[in-house]
Amino acid sequence: MPTQPNYPEKRIATSVLVIGSGGSGLRAAIEVAERGGDVTVIAKRAKSDAHTSLAAGGINAALATMDPDDTWQQHAADTLKEGYFLSNPHTVEIVARGAERGIEDLVSYGMPFAREEDGRISQRFFGAHTYRRTAFAGDYTGLEIQRTLVNRAAQLRIPVLDTVYITRLLVKDNVVFGAYGFDLDDGTRYIFNADAVVLAAGGHNRIWRRTSSRRDENTGDSWRLAVEAGGRIRDPELVQFHPSGLIAPENAAGTLVSEAARGEGGILRNALGERFMARYDPERMELSTRDRVALAAYTEIKEGRGTPNGGVWLDVSHLPRVTIMERLPRVYQTLLELQMLDITKDPIEIAPTAHYSMGGVWVRPEDHRTDVDGLYAIGEASSGLHGANRLGGNSLIELLVYGRIVGETAAAYSVHLAGQQRSEEALAQARAEIDDVLGSDGPENVRALQRAVRNTMTEYAGVVRDEAGLRTGLAELDAIEERMRDIGVHPDIAGFQDLAHAFDLRSAVLAARATIEGALERRETRGAHNRSDFPDLDESLQVNLVWSGPGRISREAVPPIPEEIAALIRDVSSAGKLVE
Ligand code: FUM
Repeated sequence: MPTQPNYPEKRIATSVLVIGSGGSGLRAAIEVAERGGDVTVIAKRAKSDAHTSLAAGGINAALATMDPDDTWQQHAADTLKEGYFLSNPHTVEIVARGAERGIEDLVSYGMPFAREEDGRISQRFFGAHTYRRTAFAGDYTGLEIQRTLVNRAAQLRIPVLDTVYITRLLVKDNVVFGAYGFDLDDGTRYIFNADAVVLAAGGHNRIWRRTSSRRDENTGDSWRLAVEAGGRIRDPELVQFHPSGLIAPENAAGTLVSEAARGEGGILRNALGERFMARYDPERMELSTRDRVALAAYTEIKEGRGTPNGGVWLDVSHLPRVTIMERLPRVYQTLLELQMLDITKDPIEIAPTAHYSMGGVWVRPEDHRTDVDGLYAIGEASSGLHGANRLGGNSLIELLVYGRIVGETAAAYSVHLAGQQRSEEALAQARAEIDDVLGSDGPENVRALQRAVRNTMTEYAGVVRDEAGLRTGLAELDAIEERMRDIGVHPDIAGFQDLAHAFDLRSAVLAARATIEGALERRETRGAHNRSDFPDLDESLQVNLVWSGPGRISREAVPPIPEEIAALIRDVSSAGKLVE
């Protein structure tokens, strides 16, 4: 006889369950609903405020509205080249080919893209693209996309439960049949029974101290949920550090200054006033790739040419005021609000900030199915597109292209499923896990341990890494896990946030371990992964690393690039690429 829990528990049945209400989750849910399917979206923060709303400068598609020679093939070639040949060419082709359709979908939902006077969608330069290919809405592109998708989801009456925290996926015999979680406000437990589950809960870049993610987002939830369900993580070590994060104030450290600032003509200088990119990428200067600009800034700072607060200067004050107000309004507002700085007059002090998980849950290129039947991953939670260096603007288009594909695939999977799995044992485990955490009354503070993880990752797994530091980082993670046995978890009258933080911490530690173990295994310097003890690229490591749990990493071959795309790959000199 199944035991009955002694707390309120709700059961919701849906065909497709989407975990995460950012752009990828909503786009997938919209596709399911437009096909007449039944879908429910779950999120741990308000849908209007999902992390996608922070995405700033733009979204890529070879629309050729500004540069008529652009093609999807060139977009694919740029993505593969700048990903240092670790991207899956099939994934890249699907995104580059599908990008125009992704933009058309958004336009049909009402997305207010910036347009030229004759009505063409405007496109701007972003780093390392051959052509102007980045469509935008000021530097609030992600916010406008999120609003557009939220409105469309509302038109389709898609239920979005955005105070529910998912703690565990329900799986039997490698088939997912739903998820378990609790309400952040009143602690009510939820059982979701679903034919298919889409993981769209983001990446793990909040586990560094300076990060473009806000508190409690991108804490590695997708990775933990997937791995505990039987999935794997591809290339956990490949983390993008965006060159321009704010240094101050401390509580907003890492807040993004969009690459659009450089795309519109912003200039980088060190404390000596030198335009230092001339040393690192004289051809492309500020419009070099993110990995190179971030490493250049890092090197300037490390070698003593940084600002007094440990940064470099990003200056847009020479641009026409109208450019700043119309094309960089968020950067303008952010600096006024956080620092009382007027960027039309003064330069911005910046330093690299953890920005994007280029690795993520292992998925098949064609439909983003994971290792677990019925489980899909999408957006920053997934992997395959970005390789060792993501082109700015590619993540927003990825979520639209794969949102449509995954929505379609998950809906079809549900329709053709002969019967749904159930397992009282899996459910009992999920209940017991929360009971166990809720029963913790030890002296260790969850927030302090989260900070300890961030300190470890910042110290030992940042822009530049080495074997000794990574091993120290692993030892520190062991110590943190030991302390986690004695945490105290105390939901209070305000809600069950403390319980959520404890699960976030578990996710963060898993993601940190995967990252460090991957970084140890990748004994080379490639893209955003800089090993000062292995400063060269190693051809034999042109493979993806796949992590399936502590101490378990395997290598996966990267498929060949189709000839039509390979022919478009230009060689760009990498002279000047430095490691400290
Ligand atoms: O800098 C930016 O606007 C970020 C864009 C991106 O990460 O794609």
